[in-house]
Order: sequence, then structure tokens, then C-alpha cells
Amino acid sequence: MFGKKKPIPQIDKDQLELIENAQRRIKQKKRLYVHFVIFLIGAIFLILANTVLGIGKDFKLFGIDWFVFAILIWLFLFAYHLFNVFITNKFMGKTWEKQQLDKLVAKQQQRIDKLKGDFIKEEKLIAQSEVYSESNKKTKKQKPELTIIVAAAENNAIGLGNKLIWHLSDDLKRFKSLTNGHHIIMGRKTFESFPKPLPNRTHVVITRQKDYKAPEGVIIVHSLEDAIDASKSDSQPFIIGGGQIYKQAMTIADKIELTRVHHDFDADTFFPEVDNSVWKETANVFHKKDGNHDYEFSFLTYERK
Ligand SMILES: NC(=O)c1ccc[n+]([C@@H]2O[C@H](COP(=O)([O-])OP(=O)(O)OC[C@H]3O[C@@H](n4cnc5c(N)ncnc54)[C@H](OP(=O)(O)O)[C@@H]3O)[C@@H](O)[C@H]2O)c1
Repeated sequence: MFGKKKPIPQIDKDQLELIENAQRRIKQKKRLYVHFVIFLIGAIFLILANTVLGIGKDFKLFGIDWFVFAILIWLFLFAYHLFNVFITNKFMGKTWEKQQLDKLVAKQQQRIDKLKGDFIKEEKLIAQSEVYSESNKKTKKQKPELTIIVAAAENNAIGLGNKLIWHLSDDLKRFKSLTNGHHIIMGRKTFESFPKPLPNRTHVVITRQKDYKAPEGVIIVHSLEDAIDASKSDSQPFIIGGGQIYKQAMTIADKIELTRVHHDFDADTFFPEVDNSVWKETANVFHKKDGNHDYEFSFLTYERK
């Protein structure tokens, strides 16, 4: 009903560029041809003007008629035009410009690709090292930091008659804040030295007595290994004494929080010597004697080397 539609010719960008270039060349050559014709007519006119019409008949340069120089100058201009159309155009024309541009773009692209490649490689390395340090952190996190906490005199005295020897309120505060919310592992004797279990801590008591009875919530175990196993959900279980348990724990603990009381005391229970070849002191805070504290003391932290 509406008849056949004429197919619209599809010209892509490259074809269009070729056509434009060809049109430009045709124009250039046409202009050259017109120049050539004008030059020929002009040259004849100059010769006639001089020889027939007698214009500037007496004007000579080096004994040669002026029109010869005029024609030579024009010839030079025409030769320059010719040179531009056929020679210069080849290496400085639009096509040449485009080729140069393409070359430069290709070079830039290569550089960008190389940079991208380097960047991806670097990114991979960073990601790998991040994953590695992250997994390292996780593995470190997974291993609980078994920490001994103790107050010991200069002569390593820690107890007498199943009792503490001194009362240092800031030391008790520190004990409370460090162990708050954690598992506290202790020997049966230390456990029995408390009037009642300490609030907000999970008590793990070690005894050889198979039928040992303790209040609800207190975990009873029969070896230090079992005590550590019972505390494995805790990132930092504390060994809180007494003398027998400290002695056994010294070889496996990761950290010691030691309150060193700067005085010697009579005692029946002692803390083992801290071996400086095994332990590295990482913190040391001195506390003066005052109204609440009868002795000078220092909060020392040791970490296994
Ligand atoms: N200054 C401080 O920081 C500090 C801290 C805590 C305690 N203390 C003092 O230390 C003194 C108590 O220490 P302590 O050495 O006499 O006793 P303890 O270490 O608290 O407890 C010893 C008891 O633990 C059990 N035990 C020990 N090793 C065991 C093992 N390998 N397997 C199974 N059970 C094991 C045994 O219980 P059974 O006999 O029931 O089998 C043993 O009698 C007290 O004077 C206390 O005040 C001081």
C-alpha cells in the first residue's frame, strides 16, 4: 500500500572519513590545476605586456627582461604549491596527522594497559598480604592467651597459712578489672581460701579428689591441662594460684601480670623465680606507699620471648 521503502545507504565512520579525505584531495588538485592554468595565461600575458605592449621595455635586471624574473618567481610559487599537494601532503597532511595520532593513541593505550597490569598485580599482592595478616590475626585470636596473675614479694612470698600476706586495695582492684568476665583457674587450696566464689568469673578448680563438691557453676577438673581445656572458649583465661598451680603453669603460660611488693615476708608459699631468659618485661608501673598501701609495689607485665 505504501510502496517499497528505498534502502538508506549505511556509511560507517571509516568510510565517511575516506570520502572526506578523497574530496579534500580532489579540491587540492583542482586548485593546483587552476593555479597552473592561471600561471600559463599569466606568463603569456607578462611576455606580451613586455614584448608587444612595450610595458617596462627598458627595465632589465642583469641584462635580462623583467618578465623573465616575474615568470621565474611565479614558477617558484607554483612549484611550491605543487610540492605541497604531492609531497608535503603525504607526510604532513590530514592522513599523516591521523596516522601520527593513531600511533600516539596506541602508545598511550599500551602504557595504560601496562599500568593496569601492574596495578592489578599490586592489588593482588596487597589483598594476599591483607588476607594473610587477617588469617594470622584470626589464628592468633584463636589461641587463648594463658595469663598468670599474682602478687609476690621481693623474696617471692605469696601466702602464709592459706591466706594472703598483705592487703593492697589497688592490687585487688587491678585483679578484679583484669579477670572480670574471664575464666579463673586455681588450685583447690586457693579456692578454699575465698569466703565465696568471686562474682562475674568462671571458676575452674583443680583437685585430685574425684568427689570434690563445690557450689553450682564452679568447674571441677583434675589436672591443669583439663582446666585449660575447660577454658578454651575464653580468649584470656587467668591462672590465679596458688603456689603449686603457678609452678606447673610457668612452663605453658603466655603472659604474667605480676604485682611485685617491694618487701620481704615470712611465708609458706612462694612464686617461682621469673627467668629473664624466658620472659620479657613489657610494662612496669610503680606505686608508692600511702594511706591505703603499707608497701611500695609495681605492676609488671611479662610476655614469653
Ligand atoms: N599472692 C597471690 O597472688 C596468691 C594467689 C593465690 C594464692 N595465694 C596463696 O597461695 C596459697 C595456696 O597455694 P598452694 O600452693 O598451697 O595451693 P594451691 O596451688 O592453691 O592448691 C593446691 C591443690 O591443688 C590441687 N592440685 C595441685 N596440682 C594438681 C594436679 N596436678 N592435679 C590435680 N590437682 C592438683 C591439689 O588439690 P587436692 O589436695 O584437693 O588434690 C592441691 O592440694 C595460699 O596461701 C594463698 O593465699 C597467693
